[in-house]
Amino acid sequence: MTESKTLRATAILSAAFLAVLCAPAASAKPSVSATAVTIHADRPGATINKNVYGQFSEHLGAGIYGGIWVGEDSTIPNTRGIRNDVVAALKDLHVPVVRWPGGCFGDEYHWREGIGPRAQRAVRINHNWGGVPEDNAFGTHEYFDFLDQIGADAYVSANVGTGSPAEMVDWLEYMTSDQDTTLTRLRKANGRDKPWKLSMLAIGNETWGCGGNMTPQYYSDVFKQYATFIRTKPEARPIVIASGGWENHTEWTKTLMSSVKNGMDAISFHYYTVKGIRWEDKGPAVGFGEDEWISHIANTLKMDGYLKENIAIMNKLDPKKKVGFYVDEWGTWYKPDPGSNPGFLVQQNSMRDAVIAAANFNIFHKYADRVRMTSIAQTINVLQAMILTDGPKMVLTPTYHVFHMLIPFQGATSLPVDLKTPKYTFGKTSVPEVSVSAARIANGDIDVALVNLDPKHAAHVSVAIAGAKPGEVSGTILTGETMDAHNTFDAPDAVHPVAFDGAKIANGRLTVTLPAKSVVVLDVK
Ligand code: AHR
Repeated sequence: MTESKTLRATAILSAAFLAVLCAPAASAKPSVSATAVTIHADRPGATINKNVYGQFSEHLGAGIYGGIWVGEDSTIPNTRGIRNDVVAALKDLHVPVVRWPGGCFGDEYHWREGIGPRAQRAVRINHNWGGVPEDNAFGTHEYFDFLDQIGADAYVSANVGTGSPAEMVDWLEYMTSDQDTTLTRLRKANGRDKPWKLSMLAIGNETWGCGGNMTPQYYSDVFKQYATFIRTKPEARPIVIASGGWENHTEWTKTLMSSVKNGMDAISFHYYTVKGIRWEDKGPAVGFGEDEWISHIANTLKMDGYLKENIAIMNKLDPKKKVGFYVDEWGTWYKPDPGSNPGFLVQQNSMRDAVIAAANFNIFHKYADRVRMTSIAQTINVLQAMILTDGPKMVLTPTYHVFHMLIPFQGATSLPVDLKTPKYTFGKTSVPEVSVSAARIANGDIDVALVNLDPKHAAHVSVAIAGAKPGEVSGTILTGETMDAHNTFDAPDAVHPVAFDGAKIANGRLTVTLPAKSVVVLDVK
């Protein structure tokens, strides 16, 4: 080595050494960290109910109007007023169930105003969401038509806040009865002969807040009153859901489980991921730094603890696990898109949302014995949406792609997983580097969902499978250039799943290199 080369090499080495010394502790991390996963194929768990992959569509902003319903006279291609592009995308997503019409909207919704000739339907103000006129063009018939078109089941939320048991009873008869009554004649006159199948019925929504500001004890009594009058034929009886708590407010689960003895098939639970500790602390959907990446990841992972606490209460009071725990609102909630109506809850959807969605499914799979239904908020144009539309344009979000990649988990058998993973740290916050779940899918293969929660470093994972010998592995990956990589109408495929070649099997062991901020689904034969 010449002297000048030696000097240059020394200078480079010193600079590199200094860079390591001066680098903020947050990004200091060994280049190779090891995560060890053991999947227990020898101890199969509960079935992952397909309804865990449900959707929530409320009369909110362009969630229904513009997003689903464009009307028969629209130039946007539609079938009986329902846009064809959205139907095709949701059909392809195998959506099992759609919760409707709210949310908070549900407690001001009067079903009679949404049937009959559209021109004569009542126009109301949507007080909860933007104070805009609601013309009831999308009502019961349009909802069931939409479900038929996408192949999903029905979940309606009955109006407790401003409704009555009588209004709910009549709606049930209108939807589900096969007898000859005044209400079923009206249904027939409105174009539907046969009753519809109503899979799920909630008695109110967020009765601790927008649904009536009740106490758990007061609501338990209201629930019993409403539930008494669910008088469908046994074969037409829906799963009946009580409005439960949120975050760590387990008193709702405790009170409902101890005071309602009959007629409650499930308790609902809501948890939204925001930036900070306080509900008001919201960050932007895109254009954020690593501090907001990790704060959202840390907050979303609290779902695990909330489920654990609530389920522990249920296990004591209902050891036979008759009552389900339905997370029927979850997802990210950011500051509204600049320039949008703040009441419409419009937000972009990025790689961070994809990682959050997949991490939540890994948690739901773990609690599959109780968490038998969830619905992300919300399907189109609202909060953590699957689809964004703008007039005739439509784009699929990174969250859509995660739901699509996880389709094999619908109805699969969950497999317990042991996870040893290093921490990913930024600033004062640490979270696990990797999140994982596994299941035996319909064809007998084992599918593994892996998420690298670290946005800067690859994760090296070794997977042992107890009770099965891996033969072949294939996979799909979703990742992006940046933490906020997202799809737009102009660049709809910036984030999309591709085949994954980072998994290898050698000597009966599976090893995987997960790129930074990625979601990977493996199929192991
Ligand atoms: O999803 C938006 C709103 O969030 C729902 O209407 C309400 O139930 C919750 O507070």
